[in-house]
Amino acid sequence: MERTFIAIKPDGVQRGLISEIIARFERKGFKLVAIKLVVPSKAFARKHYHDLKDRPFFNGLCNFLSSGPVLAMVWEGEGVIKYGRKLIGATDPFKSEPGTIRGDLAIVVGRNIIHGSDGPETAKNEINLWFKPEELTNYTSNQEKWVYGVN
Ligand code: GTP
Ligand code: MG
Repeated sequence: MERTFIAIKPDGVQRGLISEIIARFERKGFKLVAIKLVVPSKAFARKHYHDLKDRPFFNGLCNFLSSGPVLAMVWEGEGVIKYGRKLIGATDPFKSEPGTIRGDLAIVVGRNIIHGSDGPETAKNEINLWFKPEELTNYTSNQEKWVYGVN
């Protein structure tokens, strides 16, 4: 089953939005398969955001990501990569629709509270960067037969 990497950034953690954000993924029917609270080093933040290394905000972004605890998670479900991004909303919270996490809970692009992998390749790389294989769980949730309608 498809998996994606989702992280609540230091602003989301400090603002007490962990339960609110997790609830949105849970209620949709997605399954949490890994979770930990970590303070990434600046070097680690640079690895995570390496695709953006030529952008003017790169340094500030990496400083920010490493400024406090980040809640790193892996969520599993059909279409979770794409739909996770939909739950999160547009990068700039000013352009995110109401009803999305960023649309409802953030205002500026530099403090948009959450990260989500943007495609299958990125998801695989980010899960491997943030988690050791033994930190990823494999289990059947009781909900699955009700969420997907299979026996
Ligand atoms: P992530 O899920 O965090 O990767 O966001 P995204 O995929 O919606 O956007 P992108 O990967 O392009 O940018 C990564 C992060 O850089 C964003 O979430 C923002 O926090 C930050 N960012 C993007 N564009 C800007 C910008 O124009 N200015 C500033 N200050 N930060 C930006
Ligand atoms: Mg991105």
